Amino acid sequence: MNLNDEDTLRLKKRLIKLDKPASFKEIENRTIHQDIFEALDYLPDSFVDLVFVDPPYNLNKTFNTTSFKEMKSEQYEEWLDSWVAKLIRTLKPQASIYICGDWKSSGAIFNVAKKYFQIQNRITFEREKGRGAKNNWKNCSEDIWFCTLSDDYHFDVDAVKMKRKVIAPYKDQNGDAKDWEESADGKYRITFPSNVWTDITIPFWSMPENTDHPTQKPEKLVAKVILASSKPNDIVFDPFLGSGTTSVVAKKLGRRYVGIEIDEQYCCLAEKRLDAIGNEKNIQGYSDGVFWERNTLNEQMNGNGKKNKVELSENLYANRLL
Ligand SMILES: C[S@@+](CC[C@H](N)C(=O)[O-])C[C@H]1O[C@@H](n2cnc3c(N)ncnc32)[C@H](O)[C@@H]1O
Repeated sequence: MNLNDEDTLRLKKRLIKLDKPASFKEIENRTIHQDIFEALDYLPDSFVDLVFVDPPYNLNKTFNTTSFKEMKSEQYEEWLDSWVAKLIRTLKPQASIYICGDWKSSGAIFNVAKKYFQIQNRITFEREKGRGAKNNWKNCSEDIWFCTLSDDYHFDVDAVKMKRKVIAPYKDQNGDAKDWEESADGKYRITFPSNVWTDITIPFWSMPENTDHPTQKPEKLVAKVILASSKPNDIVFDPFLGSGTTSVVAKKLGRRYVGIEIDEQYCCLAEKRLDAIGNEKNIQGYSDGVFWERNTLNEQMNGNGKKNKVELSENLYANRLL
């Protein structure tokens, strides 16, 4: 999805900027076009159930009108600390916090997260896109630190189970399938999700969710986080919204959202993506209430119950949201 000049003119009217303390109603389901260092102090207390944070990693990277410069790990830690400290006030006591990073940023994130949160886990996902390196291992993974404010938090493991092809279809003494089922398309098992995610596809040109944002996160990845760590109607907050993935997935899954992004074009892109949802609540790789392995679209669309896109989104609605 791209923006044209007409889109920008139309969509930028919806963006908000905060110059005094805001009520929750003023920011509910909105995109705040502002530097987080200006906006965070004006957000209400204790309104957030789930934060998904995908900050600039400790790399030289240009995000349209702004750039992030790689710094020493200690400085990056100070930068992280400067906004994480301001975030705490906005969280409900049972909130969950997910923070993304690559291998270079991950240690600094851990050091800051342990100061403020209870660290529950580190998810590592396989990131297939990227170039090989001549003198190093190709960088193919990223981390997401899963933290909470206390040990009292919401986690719905049943909402994020995986449907995997069975490689060894064991049977019990009676000859019945052990933990797996046979369908027209093969043998499948519904499994508990682990902290290693190998089913994620980074958006590419032919995926409907793809935009020009240089570091867009996949909707499937954010859907796992939102389904596991929030309930319908909860409030999901993303302080580095980028192209809007978190707000889009929150809306598709019947959660409320708030996002902050410094770049106007990215804010407008987020709004355009939110508009485009309509009845199209599909999340690629998630259907029938389970997450599928990579490259299984055919099985999802045809094999298991011959579902079409509309049926899939209707099911999503019926099973998860109402
Ligand atoms: C890693 S990207 C997030 C991508 C996003 N998860 C997505 O799926 O599109 C980080 C974003 O933070 C924004 N950003 C950087 N510094 C910021 C600041 N001080 N305040 C608000 N946004 C900022 C950048 O413009 C960039 O879009």
